[in-house]
Amino acid sequence: MTALADPGLAETQAESFSPSRAGPADGEPPTAPPPGPALSPFLQGLRFSPADAPSLTGESPLRPILGPNSVLTSVGERHLRQRRLLLPPFHGEAVQRYVAMITEVAERELDGWVVGEAFALAPRMQAVTLEVIMRGVFGIDGDCGRGSGSTAERRMRETIRRLLAASTTPLYQLVELRNAGSREPRDLLAALLRIVDRQMYAVIRARRQSSSAGRDDVLSLLLQARDEDSEPLTDRELRDQLMSLVLAGHETTANSLAWTFERLLRNAHAYRELRDRVRGGGAAYVEATIHESMRVRPVIPMIVRMVMRPWRLGDYVLPPRTPVAVSILGLHHRDDVYPRPQEFRPERFLERKPGTYTWIPFGGGIRRCLGATLAMAEQRVVLETIARRTDLEALDVAPEAPRMRNVTMIPRHGCRVRVLALS
Ligand code: HEM
Repeated sequence: MTALADPGLAETQAESFSPSRAGPADGEPPTAPPPGPALSPFLQGLRFSPADAPSLTGESPLRPILGPNSVLTSVGERHLRQRRLLLPPFHGEAVQRYVAMITEVAERELDGWVVGEAFALAPRMQAVTLEVIMRGVFGIDGDCGRGSGSTAERRMRETIRRLLAASTTPLYQLVELRNAGSREPRDLLAALLRIVDRQMYAVIRARRQSSSAGRDDVLSLLLQARDEDSEPLTDRELRDQLMSLVLAGHETTANSLAWTFERLLRNAHAYRELRDRVRGGGAAYVEATIHESMRVRPVIPMIVRMVMRPWRLGDYVLPPRTPVAVSILGLHHRDDVYPRPQEFRPERFLERKPGTYTWIPFGGGIRRCLGATLAMAEQRVVLETIARRTDLEALDVAPEAPRMRNVTMIPRHGCRVRVLALS
């Protein structure tokens, strides 16, 4: 396992938990494996089919969609190069420039809400986060009709939007199943990707021919980037990176926001406190609410690595080529770290900042989420806007159970709400 190092958080945090011994164990004989799960492999399989194995790496079901050149699917030196390339547009200062845009998108979304209306929040949040990531990545205004992007850009955006909407239907699960186990897209998935790829390549080609002067979107920055041989990225490389950012960058954030409201609307004290503080101009409770929601309902509940050499994990030594699953959900529910871990209490994070090794909804180490700063900024702005302008209620009193979709854990009904008041 890589060390979970995040300089940003490490500075703010004095950890009181010492991690167990872990790291390379060359020369040490493997121990007996740790005790396995209580369920039979068959029942485990039913609960956790390969089609939704929560891995964002090259073996995941995302691989055929993202292609071989994506930061998500590459490993080793190649992965580090890709990360170096993509980090600048997602760094703090760059993200700061997006805040006005995110605010505009969030306010516009709320302008369309109606008092008394009931709906699932997740798709609404997805519309917001898709708009934000598309504008960040392509620099286009997605509001069809008034958009500032070219026709090709708007057409591609609309196709991506439709494909993503289709990917939430049960029918699409069949498409995924047909493709299960394959590293390349097959059948219907291949046909769907051909459509969106054709449009994306058209956008890339058009951008190559126009000037990027004055543009700070990710595509423009990638077009100017050169590799160590001073070569620009190929169209295929650009396509894989752009697709990865669009996919990794919006559904996660949207569902994290949906979970936040799913929890808030079932915890009256926290919800009241949030609205009071926001309406009184305070920001700390917003941040603490997001930290607590991402702790108790991490959208990516587990990440998976393969140890390539003998590896010590506590009392165990694993042989090379052992897959190791890190349960983010499990860690976030340890009662020695978070007393009464099932409770939703943003106050926890008013008292202490999230710890580098105890709060890991964005993963850690060299694969820590590239979009974490953007995702936090988006959640802050959207949560603050909704809390300021609306009163919501949950349609069902009972909590929404988690459901796995691709690599994400989402609220079963998408967080169903009714608008009680709107300003
Ligand atoms: C609340 C929202 C988000 C959550 C919970 C989340 C979570 C994660 C996690 C857990 C990983 C690590 C996966 C692993 O170690 O295998 C990851 C990686 C990644 N995320 Fe996010 N993410 C979010 C938003 C975003 C956004 C907005 C972007 C947009 C740019 C993004 C882009 C990426 C990329 C490119 C990686 C791969 C990094 C690498 O492999 O080096 N994510 N994310």
